[in-house]
Amino acid sequence: MKRTGLPLLLLLTALHAFSQDYQAKAKALLAKMTLDEKIGQLNLVTPGGGILTGAVVSQGVEDNIRKGLVGGLFGIYGPEKVRKAQDLAVKNSRLHIPLIFGLDVIHGHKTIFPIPLGLSATWDPALVEKSARIAATEASADGLAWAFSPMVDIARDARWGRISEGSGEDPYLGGIIAKAMVSGYQGKDLSANNNIMACVKHFALYGAAEAGREYNTVDMSRIKMYEYYLPPYKAAVEAGAGSIMSSFNEIDAIPATGNKWLLTDLLRKEWGFKGFVVSDYTSLSEMINHGVGDLPAVSTLALKAGLDMDMVAEGFLHTLKKSLQEGKISMAEIDRACLRILEAKYKLGLFDNPYKYIDETRPAKEILTAETRKASREIAAHACVLLKNNNQLLPLQKSGTIALVGPLANNQRNMLGTWVVAGDWTKSIPVMDGIKNVAGNAVNLLYAKGANISDDSMLIKNANVFGTEIDTDKKSPEELINEAVATAAKADVVVAVLGEAADMSGESSSRSDIGLPESQENLLKALATTGKPIVLVLINGRPLTLPWEAEHIAAILEAWAPGTEAGNAIADVLFGNYNPSGKITATFPRSVGQIPIYYNHKNTGRPYDGKGPGKFRSYYMDISNDPLYPFGYGLSYTSFDYSDLIVSKARLKGEETLTATVSITNTGKYAGEETVQLYITDPVASVTRAVKDLKGFKKVFLQPGEKKEVSFSITTQQLKFYNSQLKYDWEPGEFIIQVGTSSATTKSVAVQWMK
Ligand code: NOJ
Repeated sequence: MKRTGLPLLLLLTALHAFSQDYQAKAKALLAKMTLDEKIGQLNLVTPGGGILTGAVVSQGVEDNIRKGLVGGLFGIYGPEKVRKAQDLAVKNSRLHIPLIFGLDVIHGHKTIFPIPLGLSATWDPALVEKSARIAATEASADGLAWAFSPMVDIARDARWGRISEGSGEDPYLGGIIAKAMVSGYQGKDLSANNNIMACVKHFALYGAAEAGREYNTVDMSRIKMYEYYLPPYKAAVEAGAGSIMSSFNEIDAIPATGNKWLLTDLLRKEWGFKGFVVSDYTSLSEMINHGVGDLPAVSTLALKAGLDMDMVAEGFLHTLKKSLQEGKISMAEIDRACLRILEAKYKLGLFDNPYKYIDETRPAKEILTAETRKASREIAAHACVLLKNNNQLLPLQKSGTIALVGPLANNQRNMLGTWVVAGDWTKSIPVMDGIKNVAGNAVNLLYAKGANISDDSMLIKNANVFGTEIDTDKKSPEELINEAVATAAKADVVVAVLGEAADMSGESSSRSDIGLPESQENLLKALATTGKPIVLVLINGRPLTLPWEAEHIAAILEAWAPGTEAGNAIADVLFGNYNPSGKITATFPRSVGQIPIYYNHKNTGRPYDGKGPGKFRSYYMDISNDPLYPFGYGLSYTSFDYSDLIVSKARLKGEETLTATVSITNTGKYAGEETVQLYITDPVASVTRAVKDLKGFKKVFLQPGEKKEVSFSITTQQLKFYNSQLKYDWEPGEFIIQVGTSSATTKSVAVQWMK
């Protein structure tokens, strides 16, 4: 004990000294600043000519930097551009305060990984961290200090396009992934020149927008917030995230950007957050539309609530001085925000070297290398979820004739998915090339496009805002389908690559119909008439409604938007070089009418028992309550047999530990990995509880015929929940411990756990 205790103590003392050191330095600098310069630090701008991610462009940026009226800048990257802007601040402003440069580095910077929903489907924090580490290395090599990531918003509504940017519906898994991403970006020491600051977003509850409509109102009980929506943000704070972005929505009828309970009472007082809070893009001035005041009023509201940096709205820049003169805010409130930003810059080492991320030799050595591509391919394969595989159609043999069909089959443009502001789609591998790379000449590969991604002019217009993601072929829809059917007729198997264009999900991409677009549905139905076995490969950013596909198509592989190595990763899975192990982290509904649908729902007073017509039960007259594919579901090319669940004790008391064990046997022909999931049900409590909650998971790799035991240690920590006083505690009684392959298929044992 003594031998390990001393270094830890030394480390803690050193960290404490370091934080005191940068706090003291920030204070000393603050003392030299004019009011205008202090307010300037609170101003985050995006210049014209950069990458625009919102509707407003900042004006007079260069001039404002020289005057010390800008604290940070986003939308540009690359050593040259960043150096030019940093020069303006460091060489031309009075106090030479460096700028902090941010960007939306979401699922990779230049080497693009699967969209975050796909990353979460790996259930592999180490792989997720690796993706964030590579993103940090590449972004820092491109001059950046700050990633607007991770996005940790829980989402239970697949109509919301930004479900693609998060880790799905579960707070426990979401928290683990949030931590992995923060440590991937920030590393152990933010002053290193390949570590960057994370910005956890969007604080808070943004994923609960009513009706899945982007930017819509959120209204939620505190108990639901604490139990289901807040844990991933809290986990990211505990992991040491340096900054947080406030969200667009309101909470308890006060917009998040001006919500003191959220930004100060919860975030700082309850959770102990020490970093700085930045608004989302003009979310400060949007409070005018929310109806809580004019620009001076909402700027005052935000500052007092605990917002430190204003993204693009320039409400702080243009109103705080007058509000101070009028006594509406205090100098202490301005100082507080300014100090937090200066401290972040000290932590990042920007005062020691404002050019620490600027090294013109780094991009060529560190960006989009053979290794980063290899990692992207590996992670994209791990993200794939096998939804269906009748008669073991997959993996495909590397022989015979394959008809490769679909608008996404030979498509580079849509492989990267949404939010790839620095990603270059021309560097991505289309599925056709991947199949050629992996199967080589052994396969006779035929191709037909078969359909446009969509023929709906309104959808095309909305999806093509960032360029032509959906193109319209010269051939008519009928010609395209006929050609595909004729091609399929010549083949042994059809691989149809269908789904969404990259920006059919992501910000401002809510959809009311989340099925395949009609043009592709028509193609698939026509292909089915050939009687050829069909593998459907899905490229998309959200759970889709696929009732017809699930019934009629033999094999379905969910590949998400896989990133730079899309085609290679998909081909690795199709031909069995990698046996799929992903599990979905957001429920796939049968119909949009079931939304919101999520596994950890409540029982209700009149639960439906699934046994036929259920008058006076909680059910739909026309559809099952069950989802198409439940949370945690995903198949493998092999099969895993679960033994009964064995618990170490049936009755426990207080702080004992329960061990729950299953034996898992690989009963199929392929080596493979299974994600074993632990759920707990608390059937009786002082507040109503969900039917079950995920409380742990483990991955186990098994050779054919191999058997391994998987055990979970359970303590009262996993029994805790928020009661009606929002106290996090457990209550004695019965608990049902469940271990299984998905949220819907588990082995269970009941135990008694008394205080
Ligand atoms: C708005 C988005 O909501 C946010 O996620 C993003 O980081 C900012 N724009 C900056 O681009």
